[in-house]
Amino acid sequence: MPSAPAPATVPSRAAALASLALAGVLVIAACDAPGGGGAAPSPTVTAPTGGAVTPADPVGGTDLLGGGHDWSHFAGATAGPDGLRIRPLGRMIVRQDGSGGQPNPPVNLRGPHLETSGDFELTADLRGTSHAGAYLQLYGELPVVYDEWRQERRSVRLGVVDGRLEVALFDGTKADPAFVRTFGSGLPDDVTLTVSRHGDALRFAVGGGVLGELPAVGAFGSTQVWFGADAAVGGQGWRLAALRVRPLEGGAVAVVDGAPSAEQRPEADSLRALGAGRPRPLGVGAAAASAPLATDQAYRSLLAGQFSVLTPENDMKPQFVHPQKDVYDFTEGDSLVDFAAANGMQVHAHTLVFGEALPRWMRETPAGGREKVMLDHIAEVAGHFKGKVAEWDVVNEPMSVEEGDYGPGRDGLRRHVWQQAMGERYIDKAFRAARAADPDAKLYLNEFGLEEDGARWDAFLALVKRLKQRGVPVDGVGFQSHIHASGDHVKPETLADHFKDLAELGLAVRISEIDVHGEDRQAQAGQFGLVAEVCAQTPGCTSFGTWGVGDRYGSTAAHDSYPLAPGDELMWDTELRPKPAVAAVRDALGAGR
Ligand code: XIL
Repeated sequence: MPSAPAPATVPSRAAALASLALAGVLVIAACDAPGGGGAAPSPTVTAPTGGAVTPADPVGGTDLLGGGHDWSHFAGATAGPDGLRIRPLGRMIVRQDGSGGQPNPPVNLRGPHLETSGDFELTADLRGTSHAGAYLQLYGELPVVYDEWRQERRSVRLGVVDGRLEVALFDGTKADPAFVRTFGSGLPDDVTLTVSRHGDALRFAVGGGVLGELPAVGAFGSTQVWFGADAAVGGQGWRLAALRVRPLEGGAVAVVDGAPSAEQRPEADSLRALGAGRPRPLGVGAAAASAPLATDQAYRSLLAGQFSVLTPENDMKPQFVHPQKDVYDFTEGDSLVDFAAANGMQVHAHTLVFGEALPRWMRETPAGGREKVMLDHIAEVAGHFKGKVAEWDVVNEPMSVEEGDYGPGRDGLRRHVWQQAMGERYIDKAFRAARAADPDAKLYLNEFGLEEDGARWDAFLALVKRLKQRGVPVDGVGFQSHIHASGDHVKPETLADHFKDLAELGLAVRISEIDVHGEDRQAQAGQFGLVAEVCAQTPGCTSFGTWGVGDRYGSTAAHDSYPLAPGDELMWDTELRPKPAVAAVRDALGAGR
């Protein structure tokens, strides 16, 4: 076992608070009450993530489960008087082709996290650990979650597994832990686990007895600590009965409770205000993700300030909300819905039936059982969000990408688990089930590449005509408008013609996911502007939506690249500064006219 480096110097408490201030945390010494005298001023701090801040009690420690801290929006966990029940969600990131399987354990994004300076100690009571692997994860940096990979950043995962303490250290250079070490043996069913930071070392103790130390190798990578928990699949879960934190000599800890959900009022020249101010109001949308929403104030302000329609980028996809056959969890989708409601935004929900982003168990369901799985999924998920979302992408990307699937006698449909089990009628069944589950939601068919003429568009239009003839309750079509390949561009006349073809069938249209290759920012702006213009000028175009807020969290970041290599396809850059595309869309929406 590596030995712990000796702590260099022990900073004073004042120095620790000063370094919190340097780390971007505002430190304010509370003034004495009028009249003077009284107790020594207790320091208060505010955090860069936003939220209410309380210094932890350096003597007795601070109880993180009680004291009004919010554990009720923590996926897989149920808060009660005896602590937190952690059930196994078994969430995994499965790739489009069904490979992969990176664990995607939940983080309490809306609950308390810590701002720390110097050394501190966390004590957790884990109960019933022999029923399952019990995992508590301490994140210095939150993972960035995509639907095909999870960018794992710095954290320590503490597991009690088969009576041993298993410590996994993630160092932000890869998806897997940098190392895993086990300590002890024969640990009891109920374990009081203490982890403390001493300079560059982490020390682990059970029931007060030190088991060992490991170098922290930047485990926290920041001054923050966020909490996550998970239980091994197949077990009965476990209970977190207590969680306390206290600063150690010379250190300081503040508890930060949940970011505010309501942002300031949008400005008059924001995209959303321009869209709303048109003679025929036009929604302006963006895909959004729950982790940056919880942690990044600039992201939150931009989302609420500029957009009136929110589309969950991944958080409502099947592998997130329905990770195991009988396990649903809507926590993160609910967070997005709550944020939208607090900021006067509509939710365009995404997506019920798709050939990708499926949990492995769905892919492995034999063909004969798939119709029931699909219908149950729709009833449960659309039922859960009923009344809270305005629209659904019921079927996403039904069309094939294989040339050979188009042409005479071919339906052009993508061959995925649903199509293989039910043929084209999977689409009819899905829309009818969605209508039954949420009669007031507008139901959309969403597809990419519809902006171009050719055999694929012809096949799509023919499909939509058949659906309408069969009385399938489709209300509209989403044009994804991913303009990714350099040199690709949308012709406004073609887009307008396609909108017209669908209007003749009585269908609404929307731009659902536009993002444009950005090596030439002026050309990028031109494409964003043209597409927005066509949408704004088409009576049946209900909203103009982009696939993300800015390049800081864009979906075209290089997969599996550590550190994250962001893409450049969105309207705001990695610093969330507007690119020329913003002005182009504002013009299209009639700014200054
Ligand atoms: C994308 C997400 O944005 C990424 O995070 C994920 O890794 C892959 O899927 N069309 C769709 C969306 O309908 O669901 C896709 O979302 C982008 C293409």
